[in-house]
Amino acid sequence: KIVPLILAGGAGTRLWPMSRSSRPKQFLTLIGEHSLFQQALLRVSDPVRYEPPIIVTNNEYRFLVADQAQEIGVAPGAIVLEPVARNTAPAIIAGTLAAQHRSPSACLYVLASDHAIIADRAYHCAIETAHHAAHDGKLVTFGITPTGPATGFGYIEAGKEISPGVLSVARFVEKPDVGTANAMIAAGGHYWNSGMFMFRPAVMLDEAQRLTPAIVSSVEAAIAHARRDLDFLRLDQDHFAGAEAISIDYAIFEKSDAVAVVPAPIKWSDLGSWDAVWQASERDGQNNALRGSGLLNQTSNALVVSENQHVVVDGLDDVAVLASEDAIYVGRLSSAQNVGEIVKVLKAEP
Ligand code: GDD
Ligand code: MG
Repeated sequence: KIVPLILAGGAGTRLWPMSRSSRPKQFLTLIGEHSLFQQALLRVSDPVRYEPPIIVTNNEYRFLVADQAQEIGVAPGAIVLEPVARNTAPAIIAGTLAAQHRSPSACLYVLASDHAIIADRAYHCAIETAHHAAHDGKLVTFGITPTGPATGFGYIEAGKEISPGVLSVARFVEKPDVGTANAMIAAGGHYWNSGMFMFRPAVMLDEAQRLTPAIVSSVEAAIAHARRDLDFLRLDQDHFAGAEAISIDYAIFEKSDAVAVVPAPIKWSDLGSWDAVWQASERDGQNNALRGSGLLNQTSNALVVSENQHVVVDGLDDVAVLASEDAIYVGRLSSAQNVGEIVKVLKAEP
């Protein structure tokens, strides 16, 4: 069976005003009936295929994680708590060490908790193919067909086929500049890294030991001195804080020769902006997506999200209205990528 390792410690701010550091994107219900974190849990809840998940999150989110899991009847195998955020390399290494301890021979499936994914046939096929390659000793990535020169993703240059559906990786470039991204798209044969990974714990730990031994020692010490309380494994603060803050993409995937890619025609979105939330949402005949209470008259291409007020939009096209408890954003939907910049301006306000 596969052990899911769910990363739920990020504090994304691009979906302001709904997403806040006290309640980041993964815990919000933006698409469908459940929060994105709950949807990630449900995607790996089939007991025939999966062991109970290991969740790695920040100490600050422990109750959100425990309550949201309980709400949908999922009992996690373990909840690993980071006393300080150190990005995904330390988080994944901590989760991998915890998993190796419990089920040393099972493959790990690392997944983000803040993506929208449709678990259709293509998705399950990709998981199956990746499982085989991971079993054979690969650090497996899932390749998404790029739709433009986005700079927020890792890019994978695929090499030759090494087994059915699995390609070697010639190069992995995390978050290229727009020129490099354009060149890679023009060249063809490149994929976006989905942010999901599959591997055997021993393979990841060997590569981590070779490429970033200092992080491994800090995290090992943080686990050796961890405190267990209820379902929580509380990593030791002093040791974990000593680990370099770096993502797994820069620390391991750009550098390792063991990386392989499974191109996967899955319906996937990282929901990196409100525009992407609108894309992934159900829309009416005028292409409007409405979440919460509202009335849209003579309006098209709108995204309206309201936490508790009745929002009326009249006679507009290409508009985002995001009404949270204490702040309202109104702007063009097509420029909703600017929200990240606006959050910086707000933070700098006196
Ligand atoms: N536990 C824990 N601790 N989780 C974290 C931390 C942390 O310190 N930082 C981020 N995460 C979680 C996020 O909540 C998210 O679910 C996942 O790890 C990925 O982190 P992001 O910060 O969202 O990464 P990214 O989007 O910039 O880049 C990654 O994902 C892209 C696809 O969306 C990379 O893997 C890229 O290569 C990839 O293309
Ligand atoms: Mg992300």
